[in-house]
Amino acid sequence: MPSLKFLALASLVTTVAVAAETAKSAAPDADTMKRGQAVYSRTCIACHQPTGAGLPPVFPPLAGSEWIAKSASIAVRNITNGMMGPVTVKGVTYNGMMPPVTAVTDKDIADVVTYVNNSFGNSGSVVTEAEVTAIKNKYADRKTPWTAAEYEKEAK
Ligand code: HEC
Repeated sequence: MPSLKFLALASLVTTVAVAAETAKSAAPDADTMKRGQAVYSRTCIACHQPTGAGLPPVFPPLAGSEWIAKSASIAVRNITNGMMGPVTVKGVTYNGMMPPVTAVTDKDIADVVTYVNNSFGNSGSVVTEAEVTAIKNKYADRKTPWTAAEYEKEAK
């Protein structure tokens, strides 16, 4: 029979895990959104536009984008290594090139991806600095821009 101590520990672990899960899906706080918006204005706005609508057929929208919805890792990797076409977003095919976004910290990336995930009608996850660092480490050997074909192969 499991000891009481074990049961208490097990229930504590469950509580902490549930709390972490809840925190992840919760809406981002106002400070994060404010910082994310500032990074967006500095590094994304010229192409993806103030409303996230992009400039079809040259710059794709982030508003309602299936790539934003698919995984936060995609935006993080685009920022780090860039992305090259073709990519279809909301029924329009783009064949462009997003250059890597330089002069951003992992915290800036976390804030801007959280901002994009939760702006322009999007409703997505809060991304932490630690998650950005982990994604960058995982793909540290990557030197060329990502492609939609690669992202498509990945599970949601
Ligand atoms: C110089 C223009 C430019 C800048 C700056 C830029 N992008 Fe992009 N972005 C593009 C282009 C062009 C594509 C499509 C590339 C392709 O054809 O594969 C793209 C694709 C994307 C995609 C996937 C497609 C979509 O519409 O969802 C995401 C996500 C994205 N960008 C996020 C960002 C974020 C976040 C920033 C700022 C941190 C940023 N981009 C900065 C030009 C830009």
